[in-house]
Amino acid sequence: MNKDNNILITGGAGYIGSHLVEQLVKTKANIIILDNLITGHKKLINKKAKFIKGDIKNKTALTKIIQNFQINTIIHLAAHLNISEAEKNKKKYYKNNIKGTLNLVNSCKNSNVNSIIFSSSCSIYGNVKGPVNEKRKPNPGGYYAFTKYKAEEIIKKFSKKYDYKYAILRYFNVAGASSSGKVGEIETSHGHLIKNIAVELLKKKPIISIYGNDYKTKDGTCIRDYMHVSDLADIHIKTLKHIDTHSKSLTLNCGYGKGYSVLDIVNILKKKNNKLIINYKNRRPGDIAEVYSDTKNFNKILKWKPKYDNLNKIINSAIKWEKKLNH
Ligand SMILES: NC(=O)c1ccc[n+]([C@@H]2O[C@H](COP(=O)([O-])OP(=O)(O)OC[C@H]3O[C@@H](n4cnc5c(N)ncnc54)[C@H](O)[C@@H]3O)[C@@H](O)[C@H]2O)c1
Repeated sequence: MNKDNNILITGGAGYIGSHLVEQLVKTKANIIILDNLITGHKKLINKKAKFIKGDIKNKTALTKIIQNFQINTIIHLAAHLNISEAEKNKKKYYKNNIKGTLNLVNSCKNSNVNSIIFSSSCSIYGNVKGPVNEKRKPNPGGYYAFTKYKAEEIIKKFSKKYDYKYAILRYFNVAGASSSGKVGEIETSHGHLIKNIAVELLKKKPIISIYGNDYKTKDGTCIRDYMHVSDLADIHIKTLKHIDTHSKSLTLNCGYGKGYSVLDIVNILKKKNNKLIINYKNRRPGDIAEVYSDTKNFNKILKWKPKYDNLNKIINSAIKWEKKLNH
């Protein structure tokens, strides 16, 4: 990374953002984090980065930051991401995820910003059978997915007007923690399966809820593609280099291309602790039955090799982090 590259990371005090910052501070770039700490945590803020407590809903503040720090690149992670809450409180999600993104993009007017990377989600595809590739027409089922899809559209729409290249990264399910032991997932409100189980395993009577076992999948539970958070962070750095070299916008699925059911994961963990009790509950509104990535396009473009492509490694790193967090 170029030493003159000033990178603004919205949501950089969050789970994925903190892993990304951990890797980016090792490059020559200057890192500026903007986060309102709504689900981010002080503990996750990297000391080598400049931290600004602020909100993407405040356009004036955004414009000032982009101008004052002469930002060249924005990595936009700030969002609300609880799929059930999104169904109940659409306005909150509209304001943050859609309007916030519009603010951010409009703040790039007359600036030095030449690239934007956006954290999108595989949920924008809706219910799909088999591996899904980037050409699949988005069909967001739930409101959270809809906000992510709309934010993608905004970033694409303004790229010519404000003269920046973009990368839309559609994350699949992100899990695990950095091997440094310094960052990992703290927030428990998002309902992430592996985080939830890691938390439960530390209790005397661990219980895990499975939302829906009547989906049309091999065992009735939802199927997802889990990626280690440090691999995902690395993808951002490769993507930035790709944009720098090729000066081309791109949309990429970020998954390993393997689908695991919720029950597959729970069973792996049950082997580690047979006290784990499964509590079957109703489906969560906004959830989709199956989604995993077709990685062909991704492999062709980034020529990238994962370091942690192993479910056991992912789960073990999440458990290790949870233990550390509770000591
Ligand atoms: N975790 C996953 O499995 C997953 C999957 C697909 C997409 N994503 C996307 O990745 C991004 C990061 O998710 P995460 O898992 O790290 O969650 P997170 O909650 O840890 O990170 C989001 C961060 O954004 C901050 N934030 C939220 N609204 C803000 C606002 N208005 N202004 C400033 N800061 C704000 C929060 O405080 C938090 O630090 C999100 O955009 C999410 O939609 C995550």
